[in-house]
Amino acid sequence: MTEKLKFRCFDTSRVTEEIANVHSLVSGDLSEPYTIAIYYYFMLNWPDLAIFAYVDGNPNEFVGVIVGGLRNHQQRKLRGYIAMLAVKEEFRGRGIAKQLISEQIEAFKQHGADEVVLEAECKNKAGISLYEGQGFIRTRRMSRYYFGMNDAFRLVLPLTEKALKPTVFLNPTETEELETY
Ligand SMILES: CC(C)(COP(=O)(O)OP(=O)(O)OC[C@H]1O[C@@H](n2cnc3c(N)ncnc32)[C@H](O)[C@@H]1OP(=O)(O)O)[C@@H](O)C(=O)NCCC(=O)NCCS
Repeated sequence: MTEKLKFRCFDTSRVTEEIANVHSLVSGDLSEPYTIAIYYYFMLNWPDLAIFAYVDGNPNEFVGVIVGGLRNHQQRKLRGYIAMLAVKEEFRGRGIAKQLISEQIEAFKQHGADEVVLEAECKNKAGISLYEGQGFIRTRRMSRYYFGMNDAFRLVLPLTEKALKPTVFLNPTETEELETY
């Protein structure tokens, strides 16, 4: 394939169409079903962390997507979270996922994130190899994490010194937000 690939962020003037496009691309590949509210939650709160790959000239037909969010983890460090990543089957093996991850990591850095985390099914060899190749490390195995009872690995990419210290030794931030990730 010789098409020129391009990348862009979520377009907030086309919310319904953008979310429908993401849903149609990722729904077949997710480890568990997501409600439409999850898409709205991530993409409306963090439009710059929803990044799409498309073929030049066809910006509304996505061939790859990555979606993420941010939280204060235990009120001590800012944690970026990768909620979903998928590349259309016929476009796989061309470095699209690698490019989406590296664009999103840059966006997380712009937000001041201390680390980036995600969960991946233990049996997802391609996904785990992809993230480990980008510097993520496995920190936990979570038994029966998914709806279908499969185990997950927690994968973490430290971005700052804070990410390397146990949370309990860091000074609290001023936010009252509670951890959900
Ligand atoms: C996993 C996925 C996103 C990879 O997308 P991709 O664009 O084909 O990935 P890339 O071409 O950027 O490959 C990057 C790295 O991923 C790994 N990888 C990709 N496909 C792989 C495969 N079939 N088997 C093993 N490793 C694989 C390799 O480490 C590869 O690096 P390399 O090319 O230097 O060997 C894609 O297969 C997909 O959408 N899968 C279904 C959804 C999913 O599993 N999402 C990830 C959840 S953790």
